Amino acid sequence: MRRSLLLTIHFATHIPQPRFNSTMATNSVPEVMKAVQMRRTGGPEVLQYKMDFPVPVPGDGEILVQNEFIGINFVDVYWRMGMMGMAPNGIIGREGEGRIVALGPGNHRGLNIGDRVGWLSMGAYAEYTAVPAPLAHRLPADIEPGIAAASLMQGLTALALIHKVTQVKEGDWILVHAAAGGVGSWLCQLLSPLGVKIIATASTPEKLQLAKDRGAQYIVNYKEAEFVEQIQQITGQHGVDVVFDGIGREQTENNMNLVAKNGSIITYGAASGAPGFISQQRLAAKNIRLVGPAETAVMRHLGLEFGFWCSKLMESIKEDKIDVKIHHTYVLSDIVQVHQDLQGRKTTGKVLVKP
Ligand SMILES: NC(=O)c1ccc[n+]([C@@H]2O[C@H](COP(=O)([O-])OP(=O)(O)OC[C@H]3O[C@@H](n4cnc5c(N)ncnc54)[C@H](OP(=O)(O)O)[C@@H]3O)[C@@H](O)[C@H]2O)c1
Repeated sequence: MRRSLLLTIHFATHIPQPRFNSTMATNSVPEVMKAVQMRRTGGPEVLQYKMDFPVPVPGDGEILVQNEFIGINFVDVYWRMGMMGMAPNGIIGREGEGRIVALGPGNHRGLNIGDRVGWLSMGAYAEYTAVPAPLAHRLPADIEPGIAAASLMQGLTALALIHKVTQVKEGDWILVHAAAGGVGSWLCQLLSPLGVKIIATASTPEKLQLAKDRGAQYIVNYKEAEFVEQIQQITGQHGVDVVFDGIGREQTENNMNLVAKNGSIITYGAASGAPGFISQQRLAAKNIRLVGPAETAVMRHLGLEFGFWCSKLMESIKEDKIDVKIHHTYVLSDIVQVHQDLQGRKTTGKVLVKP
């Protein structure tokens, strides 16, 4: 994987003069934009809505996207809290959809001004984002507005977890935690046609019903004290062959108790805090495979195949195999509320924001 393709991100730290040079094709782009900036890490209140933030200038191999939708992800909470460091220019957000309005110098992988793209990079909480061209995907005309911003991060993560990070087999018992959430909804829908037996967990009856609607055969509320025993019973004491866990700390011990001999625990997130320590001896006792793919690692798994997997994702959506559930579309000035709702477990499926 060429590191530069995924990680080279350019943001302007000032308003350059002149704004557009001969190598930069452009429509009319303003000097300033609406954006949400954070100068320190902390609670949702650190997110400050601004109307006069400098529009970034696309660097070498970058495109400037006028965002029409911003995709909100739980990883944004980690960035806000400082678990991932400080975002360039204090603008967080990893996902967007919109039109290309300018090109920086260099190679843009065939993308042009006017193209509608979905993208995964940095600096999404803004009207305009400079995006490395390899991390943007031109959208087919029949993909409805908002669907790409609602799908790329969570859908590609689910695809990568299922097809790259682990291999599920027909007949496997699969446990999907937080199954009504963004990634959870995708996991249920993508796993369902593979002939596996899906046990979904969530915190409310309504969320559990959503998981069932998306393909889970068994549903268990993990707020109930007996939930581990319930799952053991469902599997006839076999345990689960694969656990998909984006919750982390609160589920570490439960996962260890529930995973079957020779099973896998895929711990891909930490909504309740970092997963607890597991000794090698405990893994060896059941020959457990424990994998902890970070967001960048998952994307690296897709890596140079980004375009291929994006196309696969869009095809699944078009062929109606996937129901992309959008919880609500907020406006950027309501960003504090957005984070309160997401972290407060009030959302299901995808949260979108319009700049
Ligand atoms: N490794 C990667 O590449 C990658 C990429 C994308 C996302 N992720 C991870 O995947 C997980 C899901 O992300 P998402 O964006 O789709 O979010 P999400 O699932 O829509 O939201 C998080 C859900 O986690 C559940 N949860 C359990 N304990 C919680 C707690 N203590 N605080 C808050 N929520 C809690 C809640 O559902 P209930 O109310 O049902 O409990 C909540 O709705 C996150 O951990 C995220 O970091 C990883």
